[in-house]
Amino acid sequence: MGRVIAIANQKGGVGKTTTSINLSAALAEKGKRVLVIDTDPQGNTTSGFGLDKNELENTIYELMIGECDIEKAIHKEIFERIDIIPSNVNLAAVEIELIDADQKEYILREAISKVKDNYDFIVIDCPPSLSMLTINAMTTANTVLVPIQCEYYALEGLSQLVHTVNLVKERLNPELEMEGVVFTMFDSRTNLSLQVVENVKEHIQENVYKTIIPRNIRLAEAPSYGLPINIYEPKSAGAEAYRLLADEVVEREF
Ligand SMILES: Nc1ncnc2c1ncn2[C@@H]1O[C@H](COP(=O)(O)OP(=O)(O)OP(=O)(O)O)[C@@H](O)[C@H]1O
Ligand SMILES: [Mg+2]
Repeated sequence: MGRVIAIANQKGGVGKTTTSINLSAALAEKGKRVLVIDTDPQGNTTSGFGLDKNELENTIYELMIGECDIEKAIHKEIFERIDIIPSNVNLAAVEIELIDADQKEYILREAISKVKDNYDFIVIDCPPSLSMLTINAMTTANTVLVPIQCEYYALEGLSQLVHTVNLVKERLNPELEMEGVVFTMFDSRTNLSLQVVENVKEHIQENVYKTIIPRNIRLAEAPSYGLPINIYEPKSAGAEAYRLLADEVVEREF
């Protein structure tokens, strides 16, 4: 059975989407079958994989409110071995629309239960909040992977996130585990990045991935071409880093 990884951090702009896209692509490159789920109304993972998010009829929004079934919501083989459930701005209304729904913490989990076994990995990109959408991702997930940007305020909000993961584990999803943290946007020209890595390591108990994602301009450019980094610039430092991260993720067992 596959592993479902929620990529979460309520801090904005830390590399969740970049990691969702490129970790998924690196896993697929290694022969794994991957389903990517975009749970962010910004739809950046969706457009980063080259889909026109404003032209989509069947997205995670329609899936969650029961207007389309899972088969329709999954857009198949957008790249080799990669399927996606896309998102767009419509999803922003879901929280209000489902305010009285039964078991609303489990809507996503229920929706994908039928297809879960078709994949080796399911990667869920979360929005920058601890909202109902992130909770749905965490009840669906086996593990939570937390990207941490190598900048001064890196630790801010991390304890709140860990607390949320623990609450979800206690009350909603006893199987949830911390996949670990991955440092992103590491800048080898400054001491700050190194200091942040050391400082965070001292303050957390969670697994820290050995692979550190460098700041790499190619990673920032790739989404505007709708391509994951391993296709946009296969030999770039960013592509190499996500391959190494994928190796580590595959090797870890839960
Ligand atoms: N390793 C990197 N090197 C260079 N630029 C990066 C890197 N990782 C992310 N970026 C850029 O930083 C910005 C934020 O990254 P990203 O969208 O992945 O973060 P996010 O956590 O998903 O943001 P949000 O919270 O808004 O969803 C983007 O413009 C992205 O292209
Ligand atoms: Mg994002």
